[in-house]
Formats: sequence, C-alpha cells, structure tokens
Amino acid sequence: MKRISLTQYLVEEQRLNNNIPAELRLLIEVVARACKTISHAVGKGALGEVLGSAETENIQGEVQKKLDVLSNEILLEANEWGGHLAAMASEEMETIHLIPNRYPKGEYMLLFDPLDGSSNIDVNVSIGTIFSVLKAPEGMETPTEQDFLQAGSKQVAAGYALYGPQTLLVLTTGHGVNCFTLDREMGSWVLTQRDMKIPVDTQEFAINASNTRHWYPPVTRYVDEMLAGSTGPLGKNFNMRWIASMVADVHRILNRGGIFMYPADAREPDKAGKLRLMYEANPMSMLVEQAGGAATNGKQRMLDVQPEKLHQRVPVFLGSKNEVERVTAYHQET
Ligand code: AHG
Ligand code: MN
Ligand code: MN
Ligand code: MN
Repeated sequence: MKRISLTQYLVEEQRLNNNIPAELRLLIEVVARACKTISHAVGKGALGEVLGSAETENIQGEVQKKLDVLSNEILLEANEWGGHLAAMASEEMETIHLIPNRYPKGEYMLLFDPLDGSSNIDVNVSIGTIFSVLKAPEGMETPTEQDFLQAGSKQVAAGYALYGPQTLLVLTTGHGVNCFTLDREMGSWVLTQRDMKIPVDTQEFAINASNTRHWYPPVTRYVDEMLAGSTGPLGKNFNMRWIASMVADVHRILNRGGIFMYPADAREPDKAGKLRLMYEANPMSMLVEQAGGAATNGKQRMLDVQPEKLHQRVPVFLGSKNEVERVTAYHQET
C-alpha cells in the first residue's frame, strides 16, 4: 500500500486541487500535531499522572478533569505562535484567547472542545478532540466574542481526533471527509479512509435514554416508534448504542450510519440540550453533511443556526439523512 501522509494530502489539496489556502493547511498541521501530543498523554494514563479531577469548574458548570485542562493547554500552546490565527475559543475557557502580542497574527479563528467525553477518561473508553475553523471577519482588529458568532456554514474546516484503540484524525475542509490513522512508531498521520459516506438509511440510534421522562413529545414519539420494531410504524427493528463520547458515537455513524440525538428537554425549565453549538454541534454537523448525512437542531439545519453566545447549547440530531429528516419533521409538525 502506498502511504499518503496528512502532509502530502494537504499539500496536494492546496497545490493540485486548489481546495485550501496554504495558511489553512499549516493551521491544520499544527492542530494535528497538538492532537498527537494529547493522544500521547491519553495513552500514558495513570503512568503519566493525567487521570482524575483537576478540582476546578469550567464556564459550563462542569468539574474539569486533569486531561480537560491539559488538552486545552496543549492546543493553546501549539497554536499560539504559528502566525495563522487571530484568536481561539474553547469549551474550557470563559472567554476568547487572543494571540499574545509577541507573535504574528493571521486571519483564522480556531474553536475547540479539547477533550470530548470527559466522563470516559478514567475508565479507558474512547475520547477525542473536536475543532472548528472560522475566518476572521473582514477588517477585524482586536477580535471579540462577537467575531466568533458566525453560523456553522461559515466554517472553513472542521474535524476531530479520536483517542481509541487507534488514534484517528477525521477532517473536512469542505471537500468531503477523510480519515487518517496515527502511526505511533513513525509519529505520522496516514490517510486510511477516503471520502467517508454515511448511508442514508439506518437501523441504529444513539440517545441517553435515562432522560426519557424529560423529553418533549416529538422525541418520545420517534423513540417509541423505533422501539416498536418491525411491526411498528417504521417497519424495521432498531439497535441502540450510547458511548457518551460524541466523537466516538459520530465516528461510528460516519462508518456505518445511525442517528445521534441529544435533544432539548423539559428540565430547568427549558434545557436547550447539553451539547455546545460552537465546539461540538457545528464541527460535527459540517463533517456529517460533507459525508452525505444531515444535521439539525430539530427545527432547522444546524449549520444555519445563528449563534447568540459563544458557549450556547443546542439540541442535536445528526447522522443518516432519512432518519434525521424524519425526527425533524416530527418537530416541525408541533
Ligand atoms: P464533554 O466531555 O466535552 O463535556 O462532552 C460530553 C458530551 C458528549 O461527548 C456526549 O455525547 C455527552 O456529553 C454525554 O452526555 P451524558 O453524560 O448526558 O450521556
Ligand atoms: Mn465538558
Ligand atoms: Mn464535548
Ligand atoms: Mn470537552
């Protein structure tokens, strides 16, 4: 097998296909390098003294794990000095991070969920890093939070690293979705899946069913119909999976289809779901659409949602097109 590295893939995308500007290529290389460092820390586990709680709380009101904090620092440090960025934003930081004055600034803005699936860190279950790249608005001087509030359709790149039995990097720059496997001995990312596609139909769903009693009627209806199986209104049996790491659930869906749901529900008093628009929903929605799937907030296309706040939460329905369209239609009927 002829091995194509991430670097070669990106250079060809830039030079032969004119699909990405040089600056964006370099930015993606830096993010990939940071993910390699995070993967190394994750793989050390107890030996690297990276497990357990950091005993601090983030802006989301979550207790941070040591790896949440460490991964955030790795991404900040790696991306600060390259000259491609104007600013960064993260699930783990209250507000945006400006590039220090001693470094040159670029035209891109990077957003990330440094460590996705925090509840799985200490039990050795797959976790990941999710990232999204936006362009700084024309004429922007000192970046503000407002400059980040762009709809997901404006993303110029999105991806995730998955730290599982293998470490993978799944990437889109708006020209399909490709997957790279980390060769741990060589320290390089190798292209292992080209042009990933999500089957339009599926018989597998993912939702945290412990919240059933809080769901709104369209979600209850849809899940009931799936559970009714082949003699129910959908006429087929469904299997269920819930890993509690969005990266791992989305990766399964990119490979064999499925629908992933984290709905809004009737708690406190109108819980807008759990997942964050800018660090989770938007990058995953870009990947899913680029792979032929669909992603909505129940009512509208996710990538068309106009963000109002950096840390905004949003209901998420994504994956195989026909099923996402079905549950979205149920919401639109009410
Ligand atoms: P994070 O670890 O970045 O805070 O995100 C966790 C998210 C997501 O990865 C996952 O799908 C979901 O939370 C799991 O939530 P429940 O614990 O409610 O199942
Ligand atoms: Mn978190
Ligand atoms: Mn997350
Ligand atoms: Mn996280």
